[in-house]
Amino acid sequence: MIDPEAALGALVQQALGAQLGAEFAAADPLIRPSSFADYQSNAAMSLGKRVGKPPREIAELVVAELAGAPAVQTAEVSGPGFINVTLRDDWIAGQATAQLAEDRLGVPLAEPAQRVVVDYSGPNVAKELHAGHLRATVVGDAIVHVLEHLGHDVIRAAHLGDWGTQFGMLIEHALDVGEQATYEQLAAGEFTDFYQAARAKFDGDRGFADRSRQRVVQLQAGDPQAMRLWQMLVDDSMDYLRRLYARLGVSLTDADMAPESFYNPMLADVCAELEERGLAVISEGALCAFPRGFTGRDGNPLPLMLRKSDGGYGYDSTDAAAIRYRLRDLGVTRIIYVIGSEQHQHLEMVFELAREAGWLVSPATAEHAVVGLMTGPGGQRLRTRSGEQVKLAGLIDEAVDRAEKVIAERYDDPAQRTQIAEAVGIGALKYGDLSLARDSSYALDFDRLLALTGNTGPYLQYAAARIRSIFQRAGLDPASAGGRVLPGAVQPGEGAERALALQLLGFGRAVTDVAASAEPHKLAAFLFDTASAFTTFYEQCPVLSAEGEVRASRLALCALTLRVLETGLRLLGIPVPERM
Ligand code: ARG
Repeated sequence: MIDPEAALGALVQQALGAQLGAEFAAADPLIRPSSFADYQSNAAMSLGKRVGKPPREIAELVVAELAGAPAVQTAEVSGPGFINVTLRDDWIAGQATAQLAEDRLGVPLAEPAQRVVVDYSGPNVAKELHAGHLRATVVGDAIVHVLEHLGHDVIRAAHLGDWGTQFGMLIEHALDVGEQATYEQLAAGEFTDFYQAARAKFDGDRGFADRSRQRVVQLQAGDPQAMRLWQMLVDDSMDYLRRLYARLGVSLTDADMAPESFYNPMLADVCAELEERGLAVISEGALCAFPRGFTGRDGNPLPLMLRKSDGGYGYDSTDAAAIRYRLRDLGVTRIIYVIGSEQHQHLEMVFELAREAGWLVSPATAEHAVVGLMTGPGGQRLRTRSGEQVKLAGLIDEAVDRAEKVIAERYDDPAQRTQIAEAVGIGALKYGDLSLARDSSYALDFDRLLALTGNTGPYLQYAAARIRSIFQRAGLDPASAGGRVLPGAVQPGEGAERALALQLLGFGRAVTDVAASAEPHKLAAFLFDTASAFTTFYEQCPVLSAEGEVRASRLALCALTLRVLETGLRLLGIPVPERM
């Protein structure tokens, strides 16, 4: 099949080239969906000056060329030079039939495929994930799925915080509590209590704080006892993360952990290289880089701290080593950091340093895919009643509990109810996050997330389940019906059928847009529009009671919609229950 926007773009370019000269065949055709036709092209409007003709005149030339194309029903000039195009019904139907026959449903493979690192989730050892980790985790995972679906070679990287100064404090506390007791507390998943107890001692007890600082130095020097306790903290945290990611349906595995400690052996060399290049200097005893273009409030250049005055390494050091490793050793050409906005300056400084060091060289790119905050109902920080950060695990439990209430009366079988509640609750939580522009902040509102209408996870899950039930009632296997054996092709039909078919043809473009912009909400919006177009179609066009070619065509549209919804939801990481 051909993406209608791309097909039309090519036609407009052809027309521009033929009418105005070859150099105009490469102009941007500026195709947009239109409320007056299927699409409009604003190319004539934008080319007026360059061509030296009134846009309306250019538009007329283009329209004359378009009129003869097999895909085009009508092409008209409107206003000062907009070009409105309506596609032929049989062309749309033919493309939809072709789309149904394709495994990839019209999603093109990337050409060329890239090797990409997606740095996301940002977990930390000995800390539970909190509500703020939801976006960095689910948005990152959706980006990963989409890039992989387009054929890119994606390296997932959870930059696990396992190496900072806080580990001295945690190890010191573990020694106080005793190894066995520590083990039991952590195995029970009580990281927050453990961490807070350590923190309280660190803040309130000078002697403890001093011992903690010495412990870090010991740890970073490889002291066996410190290492053993540290390893215990890491292992317990990994158990916890593994369980949480599995429940959340996030594709990160042990192999995708790129812990800060991984970069430890590279840090000295990174410092040496940057010093040699004259990009790092000793400032107040610490080794600092001052990437161009970053100044503090006082007007002084801002540093990245590569090595502290006590010889220790921190967050800046690790990120410098990580970006060099990714570009130079892994050979990636795109790095996407899915992280909160509060780290924007830090990342921009790391990117600039990497450019100055010659690690980040075009065509390779590094980008910060900013994620916004989840807030409390009034836009304030999300906190528990006692003022603590809300745990992600608790948020998931609550979503599932509430989902169970929403769907309860529909299921008698408790096992089935539990299973569907899990999919609906988690789907609602994830989709609620993915459906909004990732850099926006939003207030947590379970009623909105779990609503069965509107742009929500349950609405889309329900749309898919409803189509499955159509096939069940028809005695058709949705799997085979969704595949190629469906009798009949999409026929040009009523307005709602045409609108649904045209909508479905945009799937490939929606997926490609997400890859280019690292913005999964664009796919969510497309799926919601698809489900809405399906709803209208289903209200206006009887499927099972229709006959012959009409019935076959409508079933084909149902099958295509189901496959597009299921594929799209899978790319977003939203589970699709068989029935609902
Ligand atoms: N663990 C970090 C945090 O909690 C996030 C890591 C983000 N990734 C990175 N390469 N800096 O803030």
